[in-house]
Amino acid sequence: MLCPWRTANLGLLLILAVFLVAVNISWPVQMARNAVLCCPPIAFRNLIVITWEIILRGQPSCTKSYRKETNETKETNCTDERITWVSTPDQNSDLQITVAITHDGYYRCIMATPDGNFHRGYHLQVLVTPEVTLFQSRNRTAICKAVAGKPAAQISWIPAGDCASTEQEYWGNGTVTVKSTCHWEGHNVSTVTCHVSHLTGNKSLYVELLPG
Ligand SMILES: *[C@@H]1O[C@H](CO)[C@@H](O)[C@H](O)[C@H]1NC(C)=O
Ligand SMILES: *[C@@H]1O[C@H](CO)[C@@H](O)[C@H](O)[C@H]1NC(C)=O
Ligand SMILES: *[C@@H]1O[C@H](CO)[C@@H](O)[C@H](O)[C@H]1NC(C)=O
Ligand SMILES: *[C@@H]1O[C@H](CO)[C@@H](O)[C@H](O)[C@H]1NC(C)=O
Ligand SMILES: *[C@@H]1O[C@H](CO)[C@@H](O)[C@H](O)[C@H]1NC(C)=O
Ligand SMILES: *[C@@H]1O[C@H](CO)[C@@H](O)[C@H](O)[C@H]1NC(C)=O
Repeated sequence: MLCPWRTANLGLLLILAVFLVAVNISWPVQMARNAVLCCPPIAFRNLIVITWEIILRGQPSCTKSYRKETNETKETNCTDERITWVSTPDQNSDLQITVAITHDGYYRCIMATPDGNFHRGYHLQVLVTPEVTLFQSRNRTAICKAVAGKPAAQISWIPAGDCASTEQEYWGNGTVTVKSTCHWEGHNVSTVTCHVSHLTGNKSLYVELLPG
């Protein structure tokens, strides 16, 4: 996944950046993908220091910085090897993340220049695709589950049946299992479809009910 605006007109962005100075972007990313976060579009010749500040829940904030004058990089409290500079910072100051479920958090690039600091921040939301199952139990009852999705999936049925309230089970890693149980006793339907909608994509499964 590429950072937004990388290919946009840099001159225009520079003007925008001067007016906005700080930009915050909300960014949903799927687990196991590669995400590239970019810094404000400031010309390298105008730079003094580039700093990435990374704030993940339950961890001390990590900073990675690069000082142009000495061509040196420094890291404080950064232990996650899946979060790295894309290249050497004198070539490319973007941050690359191989997204894991623990990477929900705030990431900010600060570029110090003689004219002041320019910021760009990202609220990263990690998405996990739920595993969907549908099975039939006794008496024209079907059970549809969306297991360990993030955020919680939504389940609907076609046709609508007599459904018990949907159960949700929250896991320690931030994922949610959603379970919906419905009956079609006395309904003249043979096939029912469970529709699972989720930010990572929708999925439908169907099952043929045995006669009541
Ligand atoms: C690094 O972690 C320590 C201990 O959690 C914390 O006190 C310190 O402020 C952190 N340093 C930075 C630069 O965030
Ligand atoms: C900065 O250091 C890196 C290696 O750490 C080197 O590859 C690069 O050429 C240096 N850049 C400059 C401008 O000196
Ligand atoms: C199936 O439904 C019928 C009628 O509601 C009930 O008498 C019977 O006990 C149910 N069977 C099972 C296995 O739940
Ligand atoms: C989250 O936890 C649940 C329950 O332990 C597990 O089934 C699931 O695989 C975990 N998901 C991730 C992405 O680690
Ligand atoms: C059930 O539906 C089928 C086709 O939709 C129809 O042929 C049949 O007569 C219906 N049965 C009852 C009992 O309504
Ligand atoms: C997924 O399902 C939801 C609700 O049914 C719908 O609003 C949305 O447009 C669907 N998304 C896609 C990509 O089909």
